[in-house]
Amino acid sequence: MNNQNTAKSVNSDSSTFDVEKIRADFPILQEQVNGKPLVYLDNAATSQKPNQVIETLDKYYREYNSNIHRGVHTLSETATAVYETAREKVKSFVNANSTKEIIFVRGATEAINLVAQSFGRDSLGPEDEIIITELEHHSNIVPWQLLCEQTGAKLHYIPINDAGELILEEYEKLLNKKTSIVAVGHISNALGTINPIKDIIDKAHAVGAKVLVDGAQAVPHTKVDVQQLGCDFYVFSGHKLFGPTGIGVLYGREALLDAMPPYQGGGDMIQTVSMTKSTFNALPHKFEAGTPHIAGVIGLGAAIDYVNELDLDVTAQYENELLDYANEQAAQIANLLFVGTAKNKTSILSFTLDRIHPHDIGTILDGEGVAIRAGHHCAMPVMERFGIPATARASFAFYNTREEVDALIQAIDKCINVFG
Ligand code: ALA
Repeated sequence: MNNQNTAKSVNSDSSTFDVEKIRADFPILQEQVNGKPLVYLDNAATSQKPNQVIETLDKYYREYNSNIHRGVHTLSETATAVYETAREKVKSFVNANSTKEIIFVRGATEAINLVAQSFGRDSLGPEDEIIITELEHHSNIVPWQLLCEQTGAKLHYIPINDAGELILEEYEKLLNKKTSIVAVGHISNALGTINPIKDIIDKAHAVGAKVLVDGAQAVPHTKVDVQQLGCDFYVFSGHKLFGPTGIGVLYGREALLDAMPPYQGGGDMIQTVSMTKSTFNALPHKFEAGTPHIAGVIGLGAAIDYVNELDLDVTAQYENELLDYANEQAAQIANLLFVGTAKNKTSILSFTLDRIHPHDIGTILDGEGVAIRAGHHCAMPVMERFGIPATARASFAFYNTREEVDALIQAIDKCINVFG
């Protein structure tokens, strides 16, 4: 399965990319772990935060912490303005048509559950079919399984080949007039495969299905234009995009969101409440019940400013070169098996070592200061497809370096020596 192919679709110039300057923005990268300099290669689980985000959060709590949309006092008005400005930033970041299409939620997981329950539960029945893929994270599987149990709808999976790529001919066979929803990850968290989502969306629309794209792993690595893609829903989490945890985004087409019932009831999502009936607020507030994660939204706005400044085309090019280098080095290691060798992939090196459990790999690497994830990566069907319980996964961000790849390879060599 050895293969060093990575995405070559980005042609930006990364030669002027100053990684040391960028690293200085991320204080945690100066930390030592187990007496060694931290080599943080678990970016697919969560990415680190630049000073610009940390300071924005600090400023909010120190200077204008207040509830939003409720107060007439100055602090509340400031917090409301900064919160709604962050919504504008997200709208531009994914090129939505309107801020009404940007709903703040806890993360990609909550966004998918919102769509499954609010859109799906209302409109699906036993005649309907949902298509997802064998590559999905559990967050894009379980909400659809729950929906199928509730409505009687049937769930189908697009299979993957040995490289970890979707088999599109099988997708075409699954599609039919009963297909109501297609839900697909933009980039696989377990393997790094970049899916051809534009093609998937167009084919789904041709049979009248709606499409949700899980962009949790994509937004840190590629520019997203929801209008150009034509997707109905696009979801992502802030914490993988160098922003805070506990905040995420649901983009939905306005007409769809407008027709959907509320997901949760509470303050801020209503227009009027009497003892017998309530009427609901306009978009986007209809889907933001209760006090939201105000600091999270404001921090996400700062994270978007940060990546916009760097330019995702440039960082993607740098990351692809880094992954090429990591693949070349890893290919020299006898008994290392690459898991996931798609032609179009990014930022993830998932592997196994002969006779060494990935958890043991993770533990030995941690002793060397190298942080990776070991396990099923919340993608058990992917592991099932490859007939393995787990992989070791190094996942890269634009602040990682070739020296860190070297540290990873040395730590893997040490692991092999330890286990003989
Ligand atoms: N979904 C995250 C990962 O891939 C947590 O590690």
